[in-house]
Amino acid sequence: MASLKSSPAWKALEAHREKTAGLHMRDLFAGDKDRLKAMSVGLGGLFLDYSKNRVSAETCALLIDLAREADVEGWRGRMATGENINTTEGRPALHMALRDPGGGNGEIIAARKAMERICNDIRDGKMTGATGKPFQAVVHIGAGGSHLGPAMVVRALKAYRDGPDIRFVCNVDGAQIAQVLDGLVPETTLFIAASKSFTTEETLTNARTAYAWLSEGLGETGGGGAGEAVGAHFIAVTANAGAAGDFGIGENSIIALAEGVGGRFSVCSGVGLAAALAVGWENFAAMLSGAHDMDRHFMESSLDANMPVILGAIGIWNIDFLGAEALAILPYDEGLGLLPAYLRQLEMESNGKSTGRDGTVLDAGGAPIVFGQPGTGGQHAFYQAIHQGRRLIASDFIVPLRTHHPIGGGDHHQRLLANAFAQSQALMTGRDSAGQPPHRAFEGNRPSNTILMDRVDPFTLGQLIALYEHKVFVQAVIWGINPFDQWGVELGKELAAAILPEVLGRAASGDHDCSTRGLIARARKAKEE
Ligand code: F6P
Repeated sequence: MASLKSSPAWKALEAHREKTAGLHMRDLFAGDKDRLKAMSVGLGGLFLDYSKNRVSAETCALLIDLAREADVEGWRGRMATGENINTTEGRPALHMALRDPGGGNGEIIAARKAMERICNDIRDGKMTGATGKPFQAVVHIGAGGSHLGPAMVVRALKAYRDGPDIRFVCNVDGAQIAQVLDGLVPETTLFIAASKSFTTEETLTNARTAYAWLSEGLGETGGGGAGEAVGAHFIAVTANAGAAGDFGIGENSIIALAEGVGGRFSVCSGVGLAAALAVGWENFAAMLSGAHDMDRHFMESSLDANMPVILGAIGIWNIDFLGAEALAILPYDEGLGLLPAYLRQLEMESNGKSTGRDGTVLDAGGAPIVFGQPGTGGQHAFYQAIHQGRRLIASDFIVPLRTHHPIGGGDHHQRLLANAFAQSQALMTGRDSAGQPPHRAFEGNRPSNTILMDRVDPFTLGQLIALYEHKVFVQAVIWGINPFDQWGVELGKELAAAILPEVLGRAASGDHDCSTRGLIARARKAKEE
């Protein structure tokens, strides 16, 4: 791809930025009482207000020109028709097919049916442990995209939960699985080993620990893989059925994951089984419908009325033209507590790249640093830097209008809403320094989006997930990035495999730099002691 900065649409935006450098959002609002109407878009239970950004109608039009110039329309079509748009891995990106009731290839449809059957059989007590008792607890073992999606959804849909106790293990730190297993009974515990590759060391190490725990509890002694009794307590979600089979997981307990579904885009696949078990198939299917609703909107709406395109394009304005280095994800909902972590992986693993899809070094673009925490806790932690820090941080407020927890008939939720709206207003207006000591002055003019949700329910959550998936895709297309690979995590994996025998004391220290050698030596000494 030729230099992004030399493209006509990019240059037009740069000139526009120079021309509008002195603009303050206060004046934009003062000059247009209908600004919200012009700068908002709704879809079902979601409403995006992007009026509190440093943009005019002209900025928005130029950003849409940029999206058009990058051929977002063509790329979304190529994604939908299953072209191999993930070129470095020679794969399509099939996450939309996962929730398309009329679409998807045979493999995806069969996997969805297998997942539904397994979900219903477990919840109905038809699929039991080795001793015939129904499962009361489910431990999902996975990493990255094979962990964050279901963990986020299970927490978000707490109000809909009527299934077994669901717990998650993602860290190879034994402290986590020890804590998760505490209080569980092997006879009534099911493990989901979710790993697209079925080679991720952290996941396999935890699965082996689960295997040993089950073996001991069920009194089964076995060889390398899970025996029959232990095997009855495992479901695998994977694209590598062979390795799952070698582990001892039976054919009927393996849910296939299509090669074309990337980990961080996989929550609507079998990877979401833990969520389906928690809330039941009907609710999980409603989440798929919500995601499909957003898919259709993304595919069918014109770019200037297209929620993911607008969110992506505004993000690029903030990052590349205004210099925002970070994006704060600020859900005003306890249940959405894992949304910042989920979106951090989605954005940073997809677009945290400096090489374009054609191999050239990018001269602009790339994912911002994504972080966040639910309001109001975050307000008392890091909002200070968003309001008055020297670095520009853009924010997405995600605010459900209704709560599932009207506790004690009190007004918690209205207070929560008041805080959310006050924060975005303060970021926009700031406070005039006239008559104030300097430390009390707020410049304001800090960009934010507000996404209102009618309430957090399976449908709106599905819409929200797909909204951000497509936003990330739109940004990738404009930046010229392949968002579906993640080569940057490979080197660490390779080096860890080489270093492990040295830390274990089974191999002499390799040819490392003096820092790494010194660290390994100290770890070995600690192990020996
Ligand atoms: O962190 C790298 C990564 O490859 C992610 O993209 C992926 O979601 C995660 O590891 C887990 O991979 P797998 O599902 O193959 O275990």
